[in-house]
Amino acid sequence: MWVPAGAYASLLFLASQVVAYENHTKYSTWMITSMISRNDGVLTGAGDASALLQAGFTQKAFRRWLQQNPHDVHSDLIASHIRKSVDSTIEVVSDALVSVTNSPLDRLSTGNNLIILYERTHDESYRVAFDALRHSIDLQPRNAEGGLWYFTYPNWSYLDGMASLAPFYTLFTELFEFANTTAVPDDMVFQIELLWEHCRNDATGLLVHGYDSSRMAVWANNRTGASPYVWGRSLGWFSMALVDTLELLPNTERYSDARGTLLRHFRDLSAALVRAVDPKSGAWWQILDQPERDGNYIESSGSAMFTYSLLRGARLGYIPSEPSTAVAIRAYEYIVHNFVVDQGNSTLGYTGTVSVCSLNSTASYEYYVERPMLYNSVLGTAAFAQASLEYEILER
Ligand SMILES: *[C@@H]1O[C@H](CO)[C@@H](O)[C@H](O)[C@H]1NC(C)=O
Ligand SMILES: *[C@@H]1O[C@H](CO)[C@@H](O)[C@H](O)[C@H]1NC(C)=O
Ligand SMILES: *[C@@H]1O[C@H](CO)[C@@H](O)[C@H](O)[C@H]1NC(C)=O
Ligand SMILES: *[C@@H]1O[C@H](CO)[C@@H](O)[C@H](O)[C@H]1NC(C)=O
Ligand SMILES: *[C@@H]1O[C@H](CO)[C@@H](O)[C@H](O)[C@H]1NC(C)=O
Ligand SMILES: *[C@@H]1O[C@H](CO)[C@@H](O)[C@H](O)[C@H]1NC(C)=O
Repeated sequence: MWVPAGAYASLLFLASQVVAYENHTKYSTWMITSMISRNDGVLTGAGDASALLQAGFTQKAFRRWLQQNPHDVHSDLIASHIRKSVDSTIEVVSDALVSVTNSPLDRLSTGNNLIILYERTHDESYRVAFDALRHSIDLQPRNAEGGLWYFTYPNWSYLDGMASLAPFYTLFTELFEFANTTAVPDDMVFQIELLWEHCRNDATGLLVHGYDSSRMAVWANNRTGASPYVWGRSLGWFSMALVDTLELLPNTERYSDARGTLLRHFRDLSAALVRAVDPKSGAWWQILDQPERDGNYIESSGSAMFTYSLLRGARLGYIPSEPSTAVAIRAYEYIVHNFVVDQGNSTLGYTGTVSVCSLNSTASYEYYVERPMLYNSVLGTAAFAQASLEYEILER
């Protein structure tokens, strides 16, 4: 937990640790109730592109918490916040053409939460919304190779979109469009493959932020179209996409090739993440492939996403338990001690999260390390809550 520097720092630090321990408050619960106190993940008005991602990511963290803590005293509060968050997205996503114009692939992050609420309530407005989201995939422009654009930038595809696209595409097809193998597994796996081929660096095994299939962008590599740097959070989204989609692909003949491909990539990427961890702190840099370079720093949202992916992947048997689990535990402890803030009024804060980094920029090293830092960014807090849930399973 972060505490102010100064004479009392170590005392305060010990005090906060002891209180948290005696209270037996789990960090997942504490962060999630803190997010509720900030009304996180609830769209007000039309909500911009990133508001939809924040909503979907909040819903996912909360849903995971409910699965893991079904009889907790906070269950009703957390379930009703999921519903409030999902309901706030319905109007924004129910027109496929509008949503494809106004928001990147991240809009799909709310899809599985809409499906789950529909299955529970049979409220048709949920179905209208997730049908529109599914239709919006068909409306999304593609580059010459068939790669979905991430947003309005012609022919550019980003790692980021996969965390929202792949799990929704998969669950929707499985439940409502089973005959369409063109969608899943084929197109879903193809989107991941294109990013893998264009963005992966053979030397490090890490993937850069995105690529321009027409190689026109100022940052595009003239051979692969790839952008120059490995941005932590975008690779965090991609690693979560792999582990979360693997979990949704039934272990049947129909999906055996898809599972094989995703598993191979997840193993390869996890090994690369273990190699890329900063040996001093145990966590990951804002720009993973430029360790120690001037201006670079340990970033809190990407680090939490990798921690989650490694712990969950190891627990579900997708990767060998070690060294991934030990690496992730060390990262988690660094995060708790350096980024988690006791705000002193029973709520938790979270520091060290970079604001959005876009390829609609120079995509230079300076661009990535000079982006502003955010306090209590939902992308950081919801990632931390998910990492905490995995850590808490280990503790049992
Ligand atoms: C995007 O790719 C298409 C080919 O599919 C090409 O005709 C077009 O010029 C590209 N657009 C830009 C802005 O590079
Ligand atoms: C199947 O999925 C593909 C890819 O998403 C889509 O283009 C096509 O329209 C779908 N086919 C049917 C019959 O829904
Ligand atoms: C491609 O980029 C490399 C590295 O920047 C450069 O050395 C090479 O000349 C470029 N090739 C072409 C065909 O532009
Ligand atoms: C708790 O403290 C933080 C930091 O001072 C403040 O922003 C927030 O509004 C407070 N929350 C509540 C519920 O009092
Ligand atoms: C004690 O537990 C409650 C309920 O989860 C939590 O809101 C509160 O922040 C905790 N207080 C401390 C000091 O740990
Ligand atoms: C892309 O960047 C340009 C230049 O900074 C800016 O004017 C434009 O609004 C950006 N486009 C989007 C969709 O954010």
